[in-house]
Amino acid sequence: MNFKKLIQTRRSVRKYERPATMWEVQDIIREAQMAPSWKNQQASRCYAVLSDEKVAELRERALPPFNQHSSRKAALLVTTYVKDLVGFSGEGEPVNEIGNGWGAYDLGLRDAYLILAAADAGLDTLIMGIRDADAIREILEIPENEEIMSVIAVGTRAEEPVLRPRKELDEVLKIY
Ligand SMILES: Cc1cc2nc3c(=O)[nH]c(=O)nc-3n(C[C@H](O)[C@H](O)[C@H](O)COP(=O)(O)O)c2cc1C
Repeated sequence: MNFKKLIQTRRSVRKYERPATMWEVQDIIREAQMAPSWKNQQASRCYAVLSDEKVAELRERALPPFNQHSSRKAALLVTTYVKDLVGFSGEGEPVNEIGNGWGAYDLGLRDAYLILAAADAGLDTLIMGIRDADAIREILEIPENEEIMSVIAVGTRAEEPVLRPRKELDEVLKIY
């Protein structure tokens, strides 16, 4: 799809018809890997939860009821980054005041690519930041050196989402 159309038509979807398949997930993660990253360290990770049993466990234990509802019939991607790497010197010191915020920045870029790659493949997504990271870590055995950020629902839409309004340009852009 034309890129402008893609970014204008992508929406967060809260009702799914079917989950993304393993092949679809592999394709969109491969494309998302083309995102830029700090010193090309590629510290972003993705845990794809596809089996019915694991999806049910993750949804019930790690998501609040409204996100459980919104992600029904979708596959779940847990996104993390390796801590104390991106934005840190070889000696393990933060290179500036942002510290591990750079890991989150890299992951946000990777996930922006991810949701656009999904949209281009005819899949819809919902990023969920309201989740229980401790439960996710336990269920998926995610190592302590990774920061768990979001759970992303991926599947095909079962309803047409509405466009959520954007702020006026002069509120978000200052030109000097
Ligand atoms: C970091 C982040 C966390 C979010 N967490 C949630 C969430 O927990 N539940 C939810 O329904 N939507 C969540 N959203 C989706 C936003 O509400 C949505 O992106 C925003 O309203 C704009 O709508 P659009 O994505 O359709 O353009 C999240 C989005 C981002 C980027």
